[in-house]
Amino acid sequence: MLFRQFFDHASSTYTYLIASSRGREAVIIDPVKEQVAQYLTAIEQLGLRLVKAIDTHTHADHITGLGDLRERTGCLSIMGEYTKADCVSCRVTDGEVLDTDGIRLQALYTPGHTSESFSFVLAPDAPVAVFSGDVLMIRGTGRTDFQNGDPGKSWDSITRTLFALPDDTTLYPAHDYKGWTSSSIGEERRFNPRLAGKTREQYIEIMNNLDLPDPKMMDVAIPANLACGLDAG
Ligand code: FE2
Repeated sequence: MLFRQFFDHASSTYTYLIASSRGREAVIIDPVKEQVAQYLTAIEQLGLRLVKAIDTHTHADHITGLGDLRERTGCLSIMGEYTKADCVSCRVTDGEVLDTDGIRLQALYTPGHTSESFSFVLAPDAPVAVFSGDVLMIRGTGRTDFQNGDPGKSWDSITRTLFALPDDTTLYPAHDYKGWTSSSIGEERRFNPRLAGKTREQYIEIMNNLDLPDPKMMDVAIPANLACGLDAG
């Protein structure tokens, strides 16, 4: 399998490019508009043909590359079925499997960070990795105080859906702010300070008292992302 992790410094976003091997069809997860040229370079140099671009959710901190990638490559732009982005070409439902030249990604509905967040499990028959967006992060979890976020739903998505995956499933979130690049489900069960040894009530209390400032780009990014990033300047 061919796998690349990209990082956008401005928003600390991770983007993932996956294909079965060099020269094959590829899928990209959570692309950032400002990094589209870099993705296209990698795609060209590896002889890939991008056929799917997925956003795990409507991001509030950066503008998506979904629309640009669709215009440049003709790929499908994909989000979960509850997205308010009218521009996507395809909406996936809970449990649906996307097959890209043998690379299988199963969509799992994991609300909490936003009401429309999905995670994607690589090789769902014997899970290898999960792309969790901002629902479950490395030693943290995505804030739940805007975009119809809900700490109780976040707890349920993480503990019932994501923690049901095997412990050795690699965790690839959409962001990291401390330099971690990946984790595993087992690690987060044991060491995530918001979750390990906590009750649902304690988690809700923690999330309701984070007192975080709004993301700098929130007022720009959310409306732009509802148009797949194409209306942004
Ligand atoms: Fe987010």
